[in-house]
Amino acid sequence: MSKNDELRFIVNPGGALTGRLRVPGDKSISHRSIMLGSLAEGETGVSGFLEGEDSLATLSAFRAMGVQIEGPDAGRVRIQGVGLHGLKAPADALYLGNSGTSMRLMSGLLAGQAFDITLTGDASLSGRPMKRVVGPLTTMGARIDATATGTAPLQIYGSANLSGIDYMMPVASAQVKSSLLLAGLYASGRTCVSEPAPTRDHTERMLTGMGYAVQRKGNRVCLEGGGVLRGIAIDIPADISSAAFFLVGASIAPGSELMLEHVGMNPTRTGIIDILRRMGADITVMNEQDVGGEPVADLRVKSAQLNGIEIPPELVPLAIDEFPVIFVAAACAQGRTVLTGAEELRVKESDRIQVMADGLQSLGVNAQATADGMIIEGGPVGAGCVDSHGDHRIAMAFSMAALRASGNIEINNCTNVNTSFPGFVEQAGRAGLGINTRK
Ligand code: S3P
Repeated sequence: MSKNDELRFIVNPGGALTGRLRVPGDKSISHRSIMLGSLAEGETGVSGFLEGEDSLATLSAFRAMGVQIEGPDAGRVRIQGVGLHGLKAPADALYLGNSGTSMRLMSGLLAGQAFDITLTGDASLSGRPMKRVVGPLTTMGARIDATATGTAPLQIYGSANLSGIDYMMPVASAQVKSSLLLAGLYASGRTCVSEPAPTRDHTERMLTGMGYAVQRKGNRVCLEGGGVLRGIAIDIPADISSAAFFLVGASIAPGSELMLEHVGMNPTRTGIIDILRRMGADITVMNEQDVGGEPVADLRVKSAQLNGIEIPPELVPLAIDEFPVIFVAAACAQGRTVLTGAEELRVKESDRIQVMADGLQSLGVNAQATADGMIIEGGPVGAGCVDSHGDHRIAMAFSMAALRASGNIEINNCTNVNTSFPGFVEQAGRAGLGINTRK
């Protein structure tokens, strides 16, 4: 897309967030519903599917490999599973857009197929580290070529004989864990992955829901290759990572009271609630229920005076996607917030430490990037122009900062908000954010 077509957000200062809303479906679960539904025997019916570009990239990729998929239609998708060995070689390379989850998880899954395949992505995805999956997959027997710097495009050669491994991940990454478990479905023997800290476990839960035996003991998860997945019904909850923008927005904007409905509350994802509560946020968890093996609840959030904190490093993987908006909360808090142990933020859709520090500084906030985190002194937020660097979560985080700014905040490069949160502008506008778009 040329610079001239790029979407900009212009967000008016002030206002409050009120009402009830249900943000779109969970991105991580949406990806997995297509991948595992395709590999299952029989039909998988999905509701609440995220119709964002990332999960649609996964959906198109499996269609290109011969899987019959109806929808999405208002979040409903029907997948006719082809079984573990029913995928067909696509006519072309699979383009996965901005989606790291698609590329990393599919690398593992595709390493076990009988055909060769190439995975490509946009400029951001083509700069992200893939060695973290290519390395251990190669140890399992996969044959994958990346660029000399370990990035996409990835060329995956078929008919590899995979064997299970016992792998200790050097970084806490659900994408790496899931990639290896998906390869493990095709491997002889047992594949085990240990994590240095708990990461999201949607893959394990969905495999179990589809009747595949997965053993977890402490920080180690194992499965045997050669089993069968059974198609099931999957009700995908609202994405807590999308709800996070509203949890922060309503917390920092005086006079706010917002109900966020049917939010996924998997304990490997709720770090945002723990961090905001430690800062003094007023969040009530209501109507807790289990929906198909994933906990779900409604969240009521009211505005509150936030205070700076030292963010416990063990909460980092449990809130890994929420730091852009947590930095905005910290900018609006009283006192200093310190984040450490979060170097992974530098290899997300953008370098989220540097891009957020630059943007906050241009709004007059005292934010200092460190190698593995940030130090932010809460204080007034000024008006200004920030560049999201095409990172969806940075665009949405700065939109919320306008609730406390002294003038308009203009955000460049916002088209990628559609990767995870189609309808953000409309939903945020209805809740009370003065947000407009311009090409
Ligand atoms: C995801 C895992 C996380 C997260 C990403 C989605 C997943 O990535 O940042 O948005 O669905 O498994 P890492 O595994 O790289 O931490």
